[in-house]
Amino acid sequence: MSPQSYDLIFTESIEKELGRILDNYSQSNIFILMDSGAEEHCWHLLSGNMVLQNAQKLIIDNGEQSKSLDSVVKAWQFLGTNGANRHSLVINIGGGMMSDLGGFVASTFKRGCKFINIPTTLLSQIDASVGGKTGFNFNGLKNEIGVINQPDMVILSPEFLKTLPMKEFKSGFAEMLKHAIIYSQNYLDELFTFNFNNINYSKLLNMIRKSVAVKQEFVMKDPMERDIRKVLNFGHTIGHAFESYAHHHKLELYHGEAVALGMIGELYLSVKKKAFPQDKYEEIVKYITDIYSDFPIFAKNYPEFYQFMLHDKKNSGEGVNFTLLQDIGAYTINNICTEEEIFEALNQYGKRN
Ligand SMILES: NC(=O)c1ccc[n+]([C@@H]2O[C@H](COP(=O)([O-])OP(=O)(O)OC[C@H]3O[C@@H](n4cnc5c(N)ncnc54)[C@H](O)[C@@H]3O)[C@@H](O)[C@H]2O)c1
Ligand SMILES: [Zn+2]
Repeated sequence: MSPQSYDLIFTESIEKELGRILDNYSQSNIFILMDSGAEEHCWHLLSGNMVLQNAQKLIIDNGEQSKSLDSVVKAWQFLGTNGANRHSLVINIGGGMMSDLGGFVASTFKRGCKFINIPTTLLSQIDASVGGKTGFNFNGLKNEIGVINQPDMVILSPEFLKTLPMKEFKSGFAEMLKHAIIYSQNYLDELFTFNFNNINYSKLLNMIRKSVAVKQEFVMKDPMERDIRKVLNFGHTIGHAFESYAHHHKLELYHGEAVALGMIGELYLSVKKKAFPQDKYEEIVKYITDIYSDFPIFAKNYPEFYQFMLHDKKNSGEGVNFTLLQDIGAYTINNICTEEEIFEALNQYGKRN
């Protein structure tokens, strides 16, 4: 299925509109896979709908540790023993853990049945639930097993986000910043004025629309990530190295926080190698350091970070491959940076020994 051919539904009143949205599915044999956090915080917004109320439900424990083969097996068994067939519909309700896992389960059960994502975290709304990447962690490696397969529909509502802890919210917000930086100065200016202390959910819905549109544009041009979709990895090469380092040393660092920090280093490389404007670099660095908490980076750890970058799937050996920018929205892919350049970028995080 091409990424264009599925429905993205944006709504501010999910309870009211759910009947209409799910009308076409009322005769289907429906199975819900839901994360326990979403059950606690979001199910009450959905349970009034008869289609969902009558569906069979499997609750998966919240947290990244559930994105595992064990959970996949549990979900396959749940579908199999409850009479699911290849015409059944799977509905995934929860954050990115759930859409990745549930998308994979649905894509492989009986060689693939339809699925709908109802993402309930900001990160999953603007990133994980759209674009078709599904899968689970295996052998200690993130997203080691998976398939690219598009959902039938994605239903997006900012109402779910009212219960999201601020740290989770900001983690998702970092990906929105990324969308703006790779795509549009106007969108970036809009994000700069966002008030975290008094969230306007209508404005937020508009921002979610914009972010999803940016992501979709890259996915549509290159669904299998052969070239241009790599632009969406901006901030992630250094970000993933920080994430792996944090994981290794049992430090807490959310994915979006790592990406926000990663964008600082990758913008610095953009200034150095692509003449990205210095004033815009400084403005973004100030904004990111104001919103996200500090993650101490020491010079003695630079080689470890570099090794993590080299071992990233996308690199071949003679250097590390980056998406860099000439300006906001003016991206270039496949830029190889040397160890020396990367260490210089890492010096931008405060030069601690
Ligand atoms: N497929 C992709 O393209 C893609 C892109 C980005 C990230 N991801 C994946 O997404 C996952 C991260 O997603 P995430 O940040 O949503 O994390 P998550 O799914 O683990 O959710 C974070 C926490 O929020 C809770 N939660 C969910 N909805 C809530 C709500 N409305 N109110 C309060 N709490 C709520 C969950 O129970 C969980 O404890 C990772 O596994 C990552 O690899 C995938
Ligand atoms: Zn990301």
